[in-house]
Amino acid sequence: MQRVKTGIAGMDEVLNGGIPIHRHIALNGGPGACKTSFGFEYIYRGAQAGENGVYISLEETPEDIIENMSATFTGFTDMPDLISSKKLEILKPDRFMFEDIAELLEERIANNDIRRAVIDSSTMVRLAFKDESEYRETMFEFFSLLRNLDITAMMCVEAPNQNLATSKFDIEHFVMDGIFNLYNLGKADQRVKAIEVYKMRGTNHIRDKVPFKLTPNGIKVFVGEKVF
Ligand SMILES: Nc1ncnc2c1ncn2[C@@H]1O[C@H](COP(=O)(O)OP(=O)(O)OP(=O)(O)O)[C@@H](O)[C@H]1O
Ligand SMILES: [Mg+2]
Repeated sequence: MQRVKTGIAGMDEVLNGGIPIHRHIALNGGPGACKTSFGFEYIYRGAQAGENGVYISLEETPEDIIENMSATFTGFTDMPDLISSKKLEILKPDRFMFEDIAELLEERIANNDIRRAVIDSSTMVRLAFKDESEYRETMFEFFSLLRNLDITAMMCVEAPNQNLATSKFDIEHFVMDGIFNLYNLGKADQRVKAIEVYKMRGTNHIRDKVPFKLTPNGIKVFVGEKVF
């Protein structure tokens, strides 16, 4: 099976070699759980490896994303080059509906051969719907379309709190092939960030919560280590 290497240190081991190609992931986490950092590094590592990618930001402006990510990942010194050569694109569409995002993806595939995409976040699309069932229907349509595109995508999903295990599963989680849960766990006066591959169709994977850290040179996932 062909796999897409996330390129994030330790993460491909968690996934038994990477994400099965053309499978789509929900990056699920509460506020500040590192959804943006994780999604951004996925696109950045792809760009470095010659797979063009687009980061579709529905909330923050591209300037904000660049500013925040260069402050967090100070070691990503080739970021400006990857951006100016369009290997790494950060775009904020004018309209937030799934049909606009789909159109944008198709256009960038045709004109810039993109292979990776991140959509940050589905919550921003959801806000535009008054009617929940209408949102679900549109989401289904979007994913049927995504299945036919030659990309491997991630979509950030904002969880209302840190308790991901008990939070009700949303439509995003059923239609996506994989769910990565990002945690910001507290114990006594410590906080530990952890990732859990909750589901990943098409591959075996580690099922434990695995601690990770943000470092200037990227996220490090500590495979084999316990959270506490
Ligand atoms: N240089 C750094 N070193 C360590 N941790 C950092 C650094 N910069 C940012 N962080 C951590 O990263 C977190 C934010 O990450 P990120 O923006 O990726 O999260 P998010 O899940 O997208 O958040 P939001 O809910 O706001 O969209 C911050 O809360 C902070 O804890
Ligand atoms: Mg974010």
